Amino acid sequence: MAEEFLRMTGISKSYPGVKALDGVSFDVRKGEVHALIGENGAGKSTLIKILAGAERADSGEVAIEGQTIRHPTPEVMLDSGIAVIYQELDNSRSSWSPQNCRKCLVAAIASW
Ligand SMILES: Nc1ncnc2c1ncn2[C@@H]1O[C@H](COP(=O)(O)OP(=O)(O)OP(=O)(O)O)[C@@H](O)[C@H]1O
Ligand SMILES: [Mg+2]
Repeated sequence: MAEEFLRMTGISKSYPGVKALDGVSFDVRKGEVHALIGENGAGKSTLIKILAGAERADSGEVAIEGQTIRHPTPEVMLDSGIAVIYQELDNSRSSWSPQNCRKCLVAAIASW
């Protein structure tokens, strides 16, 4: 079985009046492709934003290649190999390109 790349464990996140994520766990091994599917408001974007360091979880842990990320920021997560292509493209704010990311897990957010 391929080596583990990402492990998210017990991720919870609340916004005023809504619990967006309640103890979510998700792991990815090298070479895997996942589709995260759920109804509107299920928490998909929130989970990916936490993975990207764009939002901070209330509780839970993110580990890359077995190392817990203690202070996830967008810069730290990008350096760790997490690149997110957002549904609302604003390329002027993106520091990611395929050329500068050797080992990226790329999360693309799309909906239809
Ligand atoms: N910044 C925010 N402030 C307040 N509530 C938020 C915020 N972001 C998300 N939420 C709420 O958290 C819940 C999860 O939202 P999220 O955007 O993660 O869902 P989603 O699965 O990506 O939905 P969609 O399919 O519509 O993109 C929803 O109830 C949403 O209204
Ligand atoms: Mg979404």
